[in-house]
Amino acid sequence: MCFDSEVLENFLDAPYDPLPEFEGPPNYQLHRRGRGKDHPRYGRFVYALARHYQPERIVEIGTFAGGTAVGFGRALTENGAGQLICVDQDSYSRGTFPEVAQRNLERVGVPESQFRLCCGDSKQWLPKLGREFPGQIDLLLVDGDHTYEGALADLRNSLPLMRPGGLVLVHDVDRRRRMDEATDEHPHPVYEAFHAVAAEHQLDWCILKFIRKHLGVLRTPEQACKSIRLAA
Ligand SMILES: C[S@@+](CC[C@H](N)C(=O)[O-])C[C@H]1O[C@@H](n2cnc3c(N)ncnc32)[C@H](O)[C@@H]1O
Repeated sequence: MCFDSEVLENFLDAPYDPLPEFEGPPNYQLHRRGRGKDHPRYGRFVYALARHYQPERIVEIGTFAGGTAVGFGRALTENGAGQLICVDQDSYSRGTFPEVAQRNLERVGVPESQFRLCCGDSKQWLPKLGREFPGQIDLLLVDGDHTYEGALADLRNSLPLMRPGGLVLVHDVDRRRRMDEATDEHPHPVYEAFHAVAAEHQLDWCILKFIRKHLGVLRTPEQACKSIRLAA
């Protein structure tokens, strides 16, 4: 799978950090997770993608404090159009989503009309969004539940939302890192789920290793794919 070379040019030209005054989760100093390690290259790359593809609608599963959301959000603001829908159940650090994510999106200048924050489990939200926006999502990021079953469900539930040729981005498609969610059966849970879904639907894919913890990308077919059906 190939990207337009302009995406990489945009990435190199993009601001180093989409939001230098980013607010971390409430107990960020103590919390070992956060945007610190993943950012700014991760947020900068999604910014470059959204600037290039000028998406009408983006869905993000797993927003936390908004490390990637501010990248998408800044791009939509500069594009002057497009909506960002974020889904998170606030299970990592209570009080982070939607509160901190909302403040970061406002700080980066995204008007309220251009973002929507959905609180709760992606297993419930994705089928709902699938009914609201069937085949209408241009970019979708999966960075929520990192168990094999959770990532598989998010990926399978995401496909009916996608516009033909749309991109599904998947963080942590990395088999060199031991993940907390690893099991004997699934030692590399997100990596395995990513490849299972790519094979199931014969999707084009690539893995961008310059994004820390590796960003997998699936491209949905230009022709409607018979195996992709909206969840009941
Ligand atoms: C790794 S963080 C996301 C990081 C974010 N993309 C960033 O750039 O900072 C994962 C997030 O997914 C959320 N999450 C985990 N399981 C979820 C589920 N089943 N439904 C919705 N959100 C979930 C957690 O609450 C957490 O905020």
